[in-house]
Amino acid sequence: MIYRSYKPEDFIALYAIEELCFQPPDRFSRRYMRHLIQQTNAATWIAEDGGEMCGFGIVEWTHEAAETVAYIQTLEVIPEGRGQGVGGELLRRLENSACAAGASVIWLHVEAGNAAAIGVYERQGYRVVGKEKDYYGRGRAALNYAKHVGGQQVML
Ligand SMILES: CC(C)(COP(=O)(O)OP(=O)(O)OC[C@H]1O[C@@H](n2cnc3c(N)ncnc32)[C@H](O)[C@@H]1OP(=O)(O)O)[C@@H](O)C(=O)NCCC(=O)NCCS
Repeated sequence: MIYRSYKPEDFIALYAIEELCFQPPDRFSRRYMRHLIQQTNAATWIAEDGGEMCGFGIVEWTHEAAETVAYIQTLEVIPEGRGQGVGGELLRRLENSACAAGASVIWLHVEAGNAAAIGVYERQGYRVVGKEKDYYGRGRAALNYAKHVGGQQVML
């Protein structure tokens, strides 16, 4: 398995993974996905095996008054690639990018019933800090998970 940064020519394969992992209305549109990836304050990591993309993740960050706060936009692994540590390794890469940008905290939304994703986040030290009722639609709550990381405070 190779882990590397996103390149523009990756978009078609990346979006095919989005289509495998999420059904509408949960799926990001192509336009929104491009927007997320192209943000200045964001990093997209790719997992690739034998030249085939098998997962990706996107993290973004904002420099706020007192600290830099990072947010995991998505983490996705193709069904046949799961359970081998790919999601966990992508998450570590996203964290490293956020830390390099000075983040002191990383947070995310995850659907309350998404045990696979929650397992990955909890094993990596994320803890529940909130819950948003109906975030993913009626009766589908999101949990907010967060982790403090050792980022340097960025003075702007
Ligand atoms: C969430 C998701 C990204 C996890 O990806 P993954 O590659 O399966 O994650 P990991 O392999 O790191 O961890 C998942 C499982 O593999 C196991 N695992 C971790 N490292 C392993 C390794 N080196 N070898 C074997 N198994 C391993 C973990 O114990 C875990 O098992 P468990 O949940 O049954 O306890 C994936 O399930 C996915 O794409 N889901 C659909 C999209 C989604 O919901 N994304 C999250 C949005 S918030």
